Amino acid sequence: MDYSGRIAGSYRAGRRLPPEAVSSWTDAVARHLGPAGGAILDLGSGTGRFSSALATRFGVPVVALEPADGMREQAPPAGSRGGVAMAAGRGEAVPARDGAFVAVWASQVLHHVDDLPRCVAELRRVVRLGGPVMVRGTFEATGALVPWARYFPEAAHIATELFPTLEEITAAFDAVGMQPRAHDVIWQTTAGSMGELAARVGLRADSTLELLNDDAFAAGMARLEAAAAAETSPVPVREALELVVFV
Ligand SMILES: C[S@@+](CC[C@H](N)C(=O)[O-])C[C@H]1O[C@@H](n2cnc3c(N)ncnc32)[C@H](O)[C@@H]1O
Repeated sequence: MDYSGRIAGSYRAGRRLPPEAVSSWTDAVARHLGPAGGAILDLGSGTGRFSSALATRFGVPVVALEPADGMREQAPPAGSRGGVAMAAGRGEAVPARDGAFVAVWASQVLHHVDDLPRCVAELRRVVRLGGPVMVRGTFEATGALVPWARYFPEAAHIATELFPTLEEITAAFDAVGMQPRAHDVIWQTTAGSMGELAARVGLRADSTLELLNDDAFAAGMARLEAAAAAETSPVPVREALELVVFV
């Protein structure tokens, strides 16, 4: 999946989260981070959706590591990033010394790395002993809870076919001596209504939607927009994702 292309331009708007949704994730990080200060690695940080929130909430430096030029270009300008340093690079070769980070935050990224075992070995190397690697994503427990998935069955199929299972990810961590210490299901409000959800999904800022052919995407949008039009009073759209913490 090429994140330097069209998706980079739509990602910030198409994947924007309300502040309370971001807080539900930083609250979860707080439960797993422990008291010690030190830098956090935001792996595959994209446009920095979580980077500044982590730096602000915990008062620590955050290194936002992102391979796609287009995504880094969409991040907030240098002067307004707080304690966030953006860096070009991939999870398979993290440009940092051993034990440089107190924790790693990896949101919706491990399914994109080309070499998962190598990436996980790098995370093991750059996180200090006992530091958590916090993996945010949609796995088996929440796959059916993606609020737009029922309108785009082909996209759900792509995710099942292409993305590593949590079992495979856990095996990669186990191979470097890290085990899951926690597995939380966390709810967030993604949109204020079905109409807002449809507008957001229409930006196509999700890799599984980007990989659909245009006809399948248009058909899914027609189904989603019909559901939005049928909504008589707006109901916030909530969804759940998982946070798996490896130590
Ligand atoms: C779905 S986006 C998630 C971005 C961000 N973590 C978030 O939650 O908004 C996936 C990101 O992973 C990045 N990515 C792809 N391959 C990668 C790799 N090998 N190492 C690190 N990041 C990678 C992509 O460029 C993209 O920005």
